[in-house]
Amino acid sequence: MKISSVTMEKLVALAKSRGFVFPGSDIYGGMANSWDYGPLGTELKRNIMNAWWQRFVTSRGDMVGIDAAVIMNPKVWEASGHVEGFTDPLVECKKCHERFRADQMDTGKACARCGTKDGFTDPKNFNLLFKTFVGSTEDSASVAYLRGELAQAMFVDLPQVLTASRKRVPFGIAQQGKCFRNEITPGNFIFRTREFNLMEFEYFVHDSEWEKWFEYWLEQMKSWLDFCGVNREHLVFHEIEDGERAHYSKRTIDIEYLYPFGQKELYGLAYRTDFDLKRHMEKSGADMRFTDPKTNEKYVPHVIEPTFGIDRTVLITLLEAYHEEAAPTAEEGETDKRVVLKLPKALAPFKIAVLPLSKKDELAVVAGPLADRLRQRWATDYDETQSIGKRYRRQDEIGTPYCVTVDFDTLTDNAVTVRDRDTMKQTRVKIDELENYFAQQLPG
Ligand code: GAP
Repeated sequence: MKISSVTMEKLVALAKSRGFVFPGSDIYGGMANSWDYGPLGTELKRNIMNAWWQRFVTSRGDMVGIDAAVIMNPKVWEASGHVEGFTDPLVECKKCHERFRADQMDTGKACARCGTKDGFTDPKNFNLLFKTFVGSTEDSASVAYLRGELAQAMFVDLPQVLTASRKRVPFGIAQQGKCFRNEITPGNFIFRTREFNLMEFEYFVHDSEWEKWFEYWLEQMKSWLDFCGVNREHLVFHEIEDGERAHYSKRTIDIEYLYPFGQKELYGLAYRTDFDLKRHMEKSGADMRFTDPKTNEKYVPHVIEPTFGIDRTVLITLLEAYHEEAAPTAEEGETDKRVVLKLPKALAPFKIAVLPLSKKDELAVVAGPLADRLRQRWATDYDETQSIGKRYRRQDEIGTPYCVTVDFDTLTDNAVTVRDRDTMKQTRVKIDELENYFAQQLPG
């Protein structure tokens, strides 16, 4: 199978120079493995999150959303098993004390940090939950955790959501937001960080139907990845074996991606059974059972959980979109190569860029108001610096699907040149017809 030809070095450099994602706290020397989304990355991420929400929540009758607190009652994490079992095995270099994940290294080899072969400590389990203290005292009574996954809020809020929404099984509760894990080995840009963004839902079903819904959501996840522009040849569907799965799961498929740094997890699909709801019923005393309206059977629903890392979605969307091509036309540029992000139009940070051919006032008075008009409907950039070829290249690099050039002929024919990012084809369109033209070309 083919690994995407783009390297991480190229992608990280582009992300940084164009303001998609750059190192956090940079003026203080940065903070290891902390990344900030810049103006374009923020738009891309929001577009992904909004498209996901529209697809999986707003457009469906069987899904509702919540937005829960990051710091929950610590009893939640005790009941869920995270305080006890949310661990990675860790070994430590006996010389430099650097810590590594035992399951991701060969302890017979030299230490990757100091290079010595003094060896490593025996593996011990390291809990990934971020501990904090609530209030002014730092004692065991004030210990709390930053959420390690979104799912628990969907479980503990279930009774209130049911009362408020009057949904019936099968139905789901969705959420998007930040999660925190004290990862032993973060790295590979935004692939593994200690705070990251997740979108996931818990889909509640009768246990007799879990297999049907598992297959259904697997297909829906594939379809979402098609929408994000991911080539299916870059995906591997990895059935996780007994003994390897998370403590709550009876069946898990990891959707893995062929990143430039290897085949690794992108998303997960888990059958969480009734594990979580039963644990919360037991520990809190709340009744989490449904009553079947036809048979009056009272039962604890089972759960199918599709989970999507947002930062990994940003990463693979950029990897898939990144292309280097020969630049064919002389008038288009001074370089012989163009870098183009062929992002799905719906996800591109800017949909349109308005480019007056020169900085002269007579073009600006047409181009400025035109950009203002277009941006009421589509995210629109405006750029009047440098040659038109260089500006096309810049818009290609940030994935803008359409450039609109206002030139001196515009002043007489009331038309502009629309250039397509992917084909570089140019079309003359009357200004009055421009909004209709884009309504045909651009999603919603
Ligand atoms: N509720 C289930 C759950 O949280 P998970 O496999 O532990 O499952 C879900 O995590 C997804 O979160 C992963 O498939 C991945 O996309 C993303 N993810 C997990 N750890 C991450 C990290 N340290 N940095 C960035 N994304 C991460």
